[in-house]
Amino acid sequence: MTLLPTRFVIGASTSAHQTEGNNVASDWWALEHADGSPMAASGDACDSFERWPQDMDIAAAAGLNAYRFSIEWARIEPAPGQWSAAAIDHYRRMVQGARERGLEPIVTLHHFTNPAWFARAGGWLAPDAVERFTAYVETVLPVLDAGVSRVVTINEPNMVAIMHRVLTGEVTLGSGLGGLLPLPHEGVRDVLIAAHGAARSLLRAHRGDLAVGWSVANQTVQWTAAGAEQGRAYRAAVEDVWLSAAVHDDFIGVQAYTRTVFDADGKVEPEAHVARTTTGWEYYPEALGESIRHTADLLPGVPILVTENGISTRSDEQRIAYTTGALQGLGACLDDGIDVRGYLHWSLLDNYEWGNWEPTFGLIAVDRTTFARTPKPSLAWLGEIARTGRMP
Ligand code: BGC
Repeated sequence: MTLLPTRFVIGASTSAHQTEGNNVASDWWALEHADGSPMAASGDACDSFERWPQDMDIAAAAGLNAYRFSIEWARIEPAPGQWSAAAIDHYRRMVQGARERGLEPIVTLHHFTNPAWFARAGGWLAPDAVERFTAYVETVLPVLDAGVSRVVTINEPNMVAIMHRVLTGEVTLGSGLGGLLPLPHEGVRDVLIAAHGAARSLLRAHRGDLAVGWSVANQTVQWTAAGAEQGRAYRAAVEDVWLSAAVHDDFIGVQAYTRTVFDADGKVEPEAHVARTTTGWEYYPEALGESIRHTADLLPGVPILVTENGISTRSDEQRIAYTTGALQGLGACLDDGIDVRGYLHWSLLDNYEWGNWEPTFGLIAVDRTTFARTPKPSLAWLGEIARTGRMP
């Protein structure tokens, strides 16, 4: 049985838009409410803007020792250059609240959503996008100074660059070869890499002890002999270029859920008997260990933090089985000397899944009317691993 290194963290992740509720100044809120929008509205979400102390209480009581959450740029800067002192104070109190409960606050600065004004002005393709983003980062330094030691600048920038093409109507999801995700927008990619680099310089200049990284949506790309060329090309564009951009970072965030397999005709769908999760993804717990290994191969010397891994399922037993498989893969990586620093499960709460309320990734169920939180057995199970340091 693998024993975890002493400073290894085990916790859970959320994002602001998916949990806080009433994020009315964001571009995603505008999309949800556009005429004819196919997206369900986030509405009150989990009401975590108010109930974050309870969320943290439950996580800490279960034994978790880290909590990853994001700061909502649209709350900090609801109009260009208009900074909300109350919002800064809100997130500062969250950071302090996490520390008081024995949870390391791991803070994401950008998790998919932008202020609506930023999107209207051209979003990541506006000429001043990097300056706008770094001005926001500079403004939230007091939040980080309240007790943050690890910060994720941008969550899944590869998905942001893919979703840019989907949200602007250029392509539809699944329109890539054989039903794949479309390739990322190259212009957005270059700006996101520049924005990350600028934020990293700013954060390091501010505090030398702050560990800065970003988190990539790992695709665990595999191929048959005939699909090698296509698989490699796809992985290079969708994953490797984003990982390589972290070569000077203090850590790299790995986020793995399932895999993508190629043959000569493109993506191979799993056979009918293979289990799928409620998001339709192949049930494949091995994705985590394999993604960690691929990341470590590309970025030798860069510590790895698993910033997301989990499963949307109605069966909590299946969640525990999936996470057991994922953690066994992680444990084997540790045994092989790969520098993995922690594991953050997606997600702490059942929450708003980007236009949809059906998926349930949470360790805690949330009643959508009363907002009552009901921890699932998987929360106590993961808390026990955090407390004892004994991997399954
Ligand atoms: C994202 C989360 C999302 C999760 C499950 C990741 O792509 O960072 O926001 O809820 O995966 O789809």
